[in-house]
Amino acid sequence: MSNTPLAPAPVASEHIDLAPRKVSFGWEDTPLHWLPNDPFAGHMINVLHLLLPAGERWFVHVYKQVLPYIEDEQLRADVVGFIGQEAMHAAAHDDVLPHLKRLGLDPTPYTAQVDWLFEKLLGDRTLPPGRARHWWLMERVAMIAAIEHYTAFLGDWILNAEELDRRGADPTMLDLLRWHGAEEVEHRSVAFDLFMHVDGNYRRRARTWATGFSALVFLWQRGVRFFMENDPHLVDGKASFGQFFRAGQQGVLPSMGSMLKSVPKYLSRTYHPSQEGSTAQAAAYLATSPGANGGAKA
Ligand SMILES: [Fe+2]
Ligand SMILES: [Fe+2]
Repeated sequence: MSNTPLAPAPVASEHIDLAPRKVSFGWEDTPLHWLPNDPFAGHMINVLHLLLPAGERWFVHVYKQVLPYIEDEQLRADVVGFIGQEAMHAAAHDDVLPHLKRLGLDPTPYTAQVDWLFEKLLGDRTLPPGRARHWWLMERVAMIAAIEHYTAFLGDWILNAEELDRRGADPTMLDLLRWHGAEEVEHRSVAFDLFMHVDGNYRRRARTWATGFSALVFLWQRGVRFFMENDPHLVDGKASFGQFFRAGQQGVLPSMGSMLKSVPKYLSRTYHPSQEGSTAQAAAYLATSPGANGGAKA
């Protein structure tokens, strides 16, 4: 445990009972360029469909192994609710992939690499019971807390990304992203609270943030390059940092400034996920999300 007198400072808030919502999205009317006239920004967001199914199933796989270490009944219930929500997120993003394939962009070559990363590189490995196995479990619990910092950041961003509405983004895609984003905001404290409960070591938090952040940047730039290069509507499609920077300035992707500011926030010793995002805003979206309330075509 850390020797510092500084400790994570949750903001007072009501507790929410977490549970997965049954969702239904009809993809038949969603075009490949669901964000009109901006294939780069659309594909940057599409990378989520490549990473999340394998990534969120990996969360679930790791968390099922951590359940025996939880000595707080409320936290255990939160983790069980979190597991249910993440399993649903993975399935919902997975459902987009056959649609992309029908539209001429087969994501299989990339998702095969992502599956390998999560199942083999970040899998259980053949470690004997004892210190090594426990160390590897704690590393992964800490890495999930770091990644959840970014899923909450993105969830808060998408709930407030009005520029996507102004640009005429496809309503079904927006609803998938905002339902998911709202649940990320709703359960944003669970992964961090779990890490603090079972370990809480600050150096591990910082180290796994660096690993997780680097992996996300690596996977994201590869993913968007894959989409741009294989998009059947683009001739010589390319992805560049300049496009990313401009899209952030225009409000169709998170801005560089907001992303840079999120780094010291997570690394602060007093950081707690409840300090960011609005549970009330997330709940308000979830109450009206077409996909989470009977289906997009209802
Ligand atoms: Fe999720
Ligand atoms: Fe999450």
